[in-house]
Amino acid sequence: MPITTCVFDAYGTLFDVTAAARQAAAEPAFPQLQETWPALANHWRLKQLQYTWLRAITDAHCGFWQVTQDGLDWALEATGLDGDAKLRQRLLDLYWELQAYPEVPAMLTTLKGAGLNTAILSNGSPDMLDGAVQSAGIGALLDDVLSVESVGIFKPDSRVYDLVGQRFDCQNEEVLFVSSNGWDAAGAAGYGFTTAWVNRANEPVDRLPWTPAHVLTDLTTIPTLAHH
Ligand code: LAC
Repeated sequence: MPITTCVFDAYGTLFDVTAAARQAAAEPAFPQLQETWPALANHWRLKQLQYTWLRAITDAHCGFWQVTQDGLDWALEATGLDGDAKLRQRLLDLYWELQAYPEVPAMLTTLKGAGLNTAILSNGSPDMLDGAVQSAGIGALLDDVLSVESVGIFKPDSRVYDLVGQRFDCQNEEVLFVSSNGWDAAGAAGYGFTTAWVNRANEPVDRLPWTPAHVLTDLTTIPTLAHH
């Protein structure tokens, strides 16, 4: 069955989540980040994601903005930067205007030119996603931005992946789901989507019962996969 619909995870896939800490580290106001920003960014991301899984399995859902702040607070303490309110606020502000990876606009333009549906499916809240989409200037290249907030649970709960078929009236096999998060690509593969894992950091594949159909190093080849 041909691919009709390309659906992208947002954070880490279209938008560079390390950009906030990297950008703040480059600003004169935050010399304390010079050495620590990679560790801070890594802790922040891992805790943010762990909190989504834990809240999903304990039926304690909250907005993605809450786990983003909670993850940052853990990361600031772990790197000895807690108590720095100005730094905390700057990092949170930057999260609303994350850079898109450089290949994103051309890749989405090619998909739209080929007549494919394009969308984001993300843990992000609608207002956070709107901020990132606007600052990356890619709103016109997306048919929709789907947020877990409409089902009130985080990925990889199947109710989140259900949003795609509900919005585009398509079969699972017609969907190419793209994520840089190995666990999200695995979850979507288990759900029944054709899945591409964007493995920018050359990480090992997640040991889960489901594996992605495609493993890529960036997003440039997505349009060629959508033609198969
Ligand atoms: C998202 C997170 C998982 O955008 O990156 O859903």
